[in-house]
Amino acid sequence: MTEPTRTRSQDAEDREDIGTNTSVNATFGDVVAARFDRRDLLRGLLGVGAIAAVVTPRALAAGSARAADGAAASPFPFKEIAAGSDERHHVAEGHDADVLIRWGDPVLHGAPAFDPRNQSAAAQGQQFGYNNDFVGYFPMPGAADPAAHGLLVVNHEYTNEELMFPGLGRQDLKSVAFAGMNAELVGIEMAAHGGSVIEVRKTGGKWAVVPNSPYARRITATTPMTLTGPAAGSERMKTKADPEGRRVLGMINNCAGGTTPWGTWLTCEENINYYFSGKLAEDAPEAKNHKRLGIPGNAYAWGRFDPRFDVGTEPNEANRFDWVVEIDPFDPASVPKKRTAMGRFKHEGAAGIVSKGGRYVVYQGDDQRFDYVYKFVTEDAVAADASANRDILDRGTLHVARFDKDGRGTWLPLIFGQGPLVPENGFASQADVLIQTRLAADAVGATKMDRPEDVEANPKTGKVYVMLTNNASRKPEQADAANPRGDNRFGHIVELTPDDGDHAARGFAWEILVRCGDPSIAAVGATFSSATTKDGWFGMPDNCAVDAQGRLWVATDGNSASRTGRNDGIWGLETEGAGRGTAKHFFRVPNGAEMCGPYFTPDDATFFVAVQHPGEADEDDPNAKPATFEAPSTRWPDFDPSMPPRPAVIAITRRGGGRVGS
Ligand code: FEO
Ligand code: CA
Ligand code: CA
Repeated sequence: MTEPTRTRSQDAEDREDIGTNTSVNATFGDVVAARFDRRDLLRGLLGVGAIAAVVTPRALAAGSARAADGAAASPFPFKEIAAGSDERHHVAEGHDADVLIRWGDPVLHGAPAFDPRNQSAAAQGQQFGYNNDFVGYFPMPGAADPAAHGLLVVNHEYTNEELMFPGLGRQDLKSVAFAGMNAELVGIEMAAHGGSVIEVRKTGGKWAVVPNSPYARRITATTPMTLTGPAAGSERMKTKADPEGRRVLGMINNCAGGTTPWGTWLTCEENINYYFSGKLAEDAPEAKNHKRLGIPGNAYAWGRFDPRFDVGTEPNEANRFDWVVEIDPFDPASVPKKRTAMGRFKHEGAAGIVSKGGRYVVYQGDDQRFDYVYKFVTEDAVAADASANRDILDRGTLHVARFDKDGRGTWLPLIFGQGPLVPENGFASQADVLIQTRLAADAVGATKMDRPEDVEANPKTGKVYVMLTNNASRKPEQADAANPRGDNRFGHIVELTPDDGDHAARGFAWEILVRCGDPSIAAVGATFSSATTKDGWFGMPDNCAVDAQGRLWVATDGNSASRTGRNDGIWGLETEGAGRGTAKHFFRVPNGAEMCGPYFTPDDATFFVAVQHPGEADEDDPNAKPATFEAPSTRWPDFDPSMPPRPAVIAITRRGGGRVGS
């Protein structure tokens, strides 16, 4: 058998194909099918075009309305960039997109200069980590201009050893099986994970990192953290190194996240299964639990050099990962807290909003094919005094979404002792419900979705947007006239409307905002508005941001020259009025990269975005050579022949000032 030559990020996508959800719950496709079967019967509609009309009638109406209004009516009046692929990044005319910080740049005082041929764990632990993902901005209290001076928090999701280390190449393939890895390289990888806190300031319209800031911090895969909430101290959290089950070293695969109104950073562990290796007996107590999360995932060599990542040696260690971590960025000595009340699954993000009654509601996607959308609702109301909210995320109710065929939905609470969450079904406590969140969600009948990524509420409209990135594993035979994309390669976006405008409500209405992909190919079944240009459509929505004006911006992961004729990037997407479903291309990443981060300063004058894994190969191109440190698909952002590509955070501003994207 030939070794797959997928890139590391694509290999991660492929691993999502391993269906770990064997429950019989309805898939989102089943629900959509049922819903539109009924409507089709009512309306007597037939065919793909008719289905598109059923899905987003307002979107299809938009084209003519927008044409009549003229471009000035668009909430995204910027001049669209051309979709395409090359070694550089591109931003809409009239904007600057400046590199703020790159992998290896100093974060801590005294950090050594970046030398890619002389890396060490000690150096990396003081420098900006790899694969920047979530970006959050906190205005500096007391700053003259809070939108021009603050702290930036950044997740470092994972590492690409083939692009980071000279002469190494891919290590996670069966034919190689980490032959080139050693304790030193694993140590560097661990130090390149986690997150960074940096102080940033805008002077004369340009952002820069404040050197030697007292707030500067690196968090890594070995930083001491505490487990808090109902699962802390559970027998299933105890390890040889931590007999109390309350103290864990590090956070890993932190994807997206959120910022809270009380000034903390929520950073979300996603594909933690990749880091575990070894063998667990079929009848071991954690076997079923681990299997449901794809543990061990064997994508890194860590278990060889640190026995806690070997499931045979330390079967409970994995239970201490895949949580939402809360960090106070203003106190570099603070101990990060893994908030177990918020559930354990492959968290994409944790974007929150205050409910009508003042409680904090955190929406969360579980990014796996056929997994679920969750929300956590705190028991207590958010207090005006920030310190009173210190442990507010330890008490509350986790819910999982069921989408019904009539366009309604219900948030099902995951509470020990209620419904099927009882000892006979393997749940002897709330700790069990949380440690096995996916199994609990299976039991209550949640709806299987097409890889839920970011889920964000729009404070202006009260609506909630769910990015469903793709699901090529939905079999074509599951597709029907109402759900024409059994093989959902391009994803879609679902809009939720909470009952009574209350994010804490149990009920909601839902509809599809847009099905993604090329709308000019009828078989794709995309439903962007007809005002969307050939550059304006996108595939694989992943992260998103809502700006202060209530505009939705979508970041993508998985577009490429060979797949969609375009690199990933940012698109503005209209959600309201005649233009609903119209997308417009604002920014694109260099070859091999995905688009992460998107986060606005409170004045919308700066848009921070993160370029992740630049330089990977275009895996769908049969002629593409494997990307390595020596031969990347781009040397962005330095374009120095002696430098590898470097993941980096970019600050986008409007030349001459003003709101980005206007
Ligand atoms: Fe880390 Fe789901 O993207
Ligand atoms: Ca993501
Ligand atoms: Ca993704």
